[in-house]
Amino acid sequence: MNITAIKGFSDILPGEIETWQFVEEKAREVFGLYNFSEIRIPILEKTELFRRSIGETTDIVEKEMYTFADQDAEGTLLTLRPEGTAGVVRAYLERKLYQVEPVRKLFYLGPMFRRERPQKGRLRQFYQIGAEVLGRADPYVDAEILLLLSDFFAKVGLEGLLLELNTLGDRQCRPGYRQKLLAFLRERQDQLCPNCRRRLERNPLRALDCKEKGCISATSDAPSIVGYLCEPCQGHFGTVQRLLRETGLDYQLNSRMVRGLDYYCRTTFEWTSDRLGSQNAVAAGGRYDGLVEELGGPPTPGIGFALGMERMVLLLKMARTLEPPRPDLYIVWIGNQARSWAFPIARRLRGKGINVEMEGEEKSLKSQMRRADKMRAKLVLIVGEEELVRGKAILRNMDDKEQRETALDRVEEELLAGRGSF
Ligand code: HAM
Repeated sequence: MNITAIKGFSDILPGEIETWQFVEEKAREVFGLYNFSEIRIPILEKTELFRRSIGETTDIVEKEMYTFADQDAEGTLLTLRPEGTAGVVRAYLERKLYQVEPVRKLFYLGPMFRRERPQKGRLRQFYQIGAEVLGRADPYVDAEILLLLSDFFAKVGLEGLLLELNTLGDRQCRPGYRQKLLAFLRERQDQLCPNCRRRLERNPLRALDCKEKGCISATSDAPSIVGYLCEPCQGHFGTVQRLLRETGLDYQLNSRMVRGLDYYCRTTFEWTSDRLGSQNAVAAGGRYDGLVEELGGPPTPGIGFALGMERMVLLLKMARTLEPPRPDLYIVWIGNQARSWAFPIARRLRGKGINVEMEGEEKSLKSQMRRADKMRAKLVLIVGEEELVRGKAILRNMDDKEQRETALDRVEEELLAGRGSF
């Protein structure tokens, strides 16, 4: 039997990768404008890191992590990273990045792993582009992060996304809200799904964004966090909203948006699209002011986001397709001597930044021309034994189908001179 890829793990093939590269390139451009530096963190971390940061009662930690025991004497538990924030914070602490410069703006790109049920826009290995700002508590950075994302969507040409905004309060005010919500939910326990009932006492907020019908109707008139915010949280959220209004960034408040990771406090957000079906969040994130301390560091505020590459690419592909690179020149050769002439020329031209393609084995003129056409080569140079003798060859422009003779010893020069036109 043929060996296939693992369910939920996919290949990104030529034809599709161009869109990925385009997205990555635009992301780097925007991160550069906002002064973010790239960080590369390991794909494998100690399981404890994710348990402590994402939270024991989240779906991710309860059932979605790829975890295994290492072959060391202790059998240390290791996990394929389900997200990037925990690793970035671990690196920030371990490498004492705060000592060099207390405010760090970092971004990362790479694969994450969650054992979810695969469906459109949901994989078990998926890619994120993420960013984290450590060391800033002011609401201006919350707005800056959202504006960065909005600029990025504009740069890649993605329109029609909805920004949903919420606040989850902080250590001061969330416990009071939690108690109120818990009391409310306890009275409706029998309407909740088994999952929400099971984690009711430990994580009652999760019931607010459960997709089960019973939970939706049971929580429809649940108390909202908005009424329970302490003054500093109210002020912070008020300023974030004012900044968004002043900069013309539209948003919708959604007080039921509870993120699937426990480290959040204050501002949280999701950018959604109505063209993605049920997996509609393209990017999401928020503040995590207690996380650095939770992982043993000095009190340090943090905020960030991650965007799902597969979902971005799905949306972009609905808008347009990006083609693989076209050869600038395809050399059609007939006979061994012509091949011996063409091979080093191709190498020289590539060295000058020209994309050149040629066959290695003898094929008919017709079949080589067909292949040049299929590859959408811009120019074709046709060289046979006779052309070598005459020192001349035919150069054909594949776009307008015009062709003319050119001296072989001038081909390189001509191509380089005419580079701007192809
Ligand atoms: P998240 O909401 O779990 O947040 O994931 C962020 C984005 O990753 C989602 O909005 C979605 O686009 C994509 N994503 C998540 N799971 C999958 C999946 N199974 N298949 C395809 N795409 C997926 C985080 O990961 C946080 N670390 C974000 C953050 C950074 N918060 C603060 N800083």
